[in-house]
Amino acid sequence: MIQRTAVPFLALLACARSGSYDFNGKIALVTGASRGIGLGITTQLLLNGSVTMVSVNAARGNQTVQLLTEKFGSGKVIWLQGDVSDAEQLEEAFNASTSHWGGLDIVVNGAGVVDEPHPARLININALGVVQGTILGFRYMSIAKGGRGGVIINVSSIYGIDPISFVPVYSGTKAFVVGLGRSFSNPLYYYYNNVRVMTICPGITKTDILSKEQFMNGMSNKFLPGLNLIAYLGSWFIYEQSSDNVGKAVIVMLNDGENGSVWVSENEQPPYQVEFSNRRAMKKNKLSSFFDQFFG
Ligand SMILES: *[C@@H]1O[C@H](CO)[C@@H](O)[C@H](O)[C@H]1NC(C)=O
Ligand SMILES: *[C@@H]1O[C@H](CO)[C@@H](O)[C@H](O)[C@H]1NC(C)=O
Ligand SMILES: *[C@@H]1O[C@H](CO)[C@@H](O)[C@H](O)[C@H]1NC(C)=O
Ligand SMILES: *[C@@H]1O[C@H](CO)[C@@H](O)[C@H](O)[C@H]1NC(C)=O
Ligand SMILES: *[C@@H]1O[C@H](CO)[C@@H](O)[C@H](O)[C@H]1NC(C)=O
Repeated sequence: MIQRTAVPFLALLACARSGSYDFNGKIALVTGASRGIGLGITTQLLLNGSVTMVSVNAARGNQTVQLLTEKFGSGKVIWLQGDVSDAEQLEEAFNASTSHWGGLDIVVNGAGVVDEPHPARLININALGVVQGTILGFRYMSIAKGGRGGVIINVSSIYGIDPISFVPVYSGTKAFVVGLGRSFSNPLYYYYNNVRVMTICPGITKTDILSKEQFMNGMSNKFLPGLNLIAYLGSWFIYEQSSDNVGKAVIVMLNDGENGSVWVSENEQPPYQVEFSNRRAMKKNKLSSFFDQFFG
């Protein structure tokens, strides 16, 4: 079997399926766009289309739009204020964005936080925020609602597939995003709406929410006092990749990704798609694992 991670980006793009995505004039709305992974994705999308950035902090939003305008020219990117956990604000942003550009083609639900001490906030942003962004994505892009079809990409995490013990609530919200995406993989959704939904699970990525200090402030070691997090995380951060690599992965997914597919982007490598076993294949079998130990 070909190891996908060994295939360089260009080769991967070259063998994209014949129906490769046409970026010409495409309009994207990205939440959590002014920093970290959202910014990495915004930057890659701007190479080929226009972007509405939605985020909470106005000063940072303005500053980022200025930088991106210098880089990509004027009239390609706007910023709108919106808190993803506030359905009304988010709807206003979708409405204003669609009015501004005259349409919408790609939604990236990228807003996310690490904040174990405040589980309600964590769930509202990481889980509810993605639900609301997706519902609005369908409402504004579905051909059944007068849209022109499109793509929704939800940002989960490798810790939505594998658990991470030190931020259990964060890990749970990211597993939620993977579960919902898989539930929407039924092609009937695609036929009805013409909206492709996909999930990206970035590995450890250099972002504000994952700077060592902020990450540790966001953790609650109430249940594990005395843990030497610095020693633990110090070795962990050597796997850190750039947020641009996640942006490039999104471009590959737009080109290649099937409805409902789940992809991992890690270690500064090209992305690979993952498949999930059905529960019966995961049934724990003590006998065979005993034999596997000796004869496996
Ligand atoms: C994206 O833009 C680059 C340069 O701006 C161009 O070479 C490339 O063909 C474009 N790709 C698509 C898919 O439109
Ligand atoms: C952001 O920019 C807009 C328009 O350029 C301006 O009206 C607004 O006051 C700015 N906000 C901040 C916080 O800088
Ligand atoms: C935005 O909201 C206004 C007021 O509700 C509505 O008239 C308009 O059609 C909406 N625009 C879009 C693009 O949905
Ligand atoms: C994204 O998440 C939303 C809600 O969490 C879900 O409705 C949608 O199907 C998801 N899409 C994918 C592919 O993850
Ligand atoms: C989505 O799924 C349908 C049904 O399997 C398929 O015909 C279609 O090509 C898929 N579209 C994309 C863009 O993946």
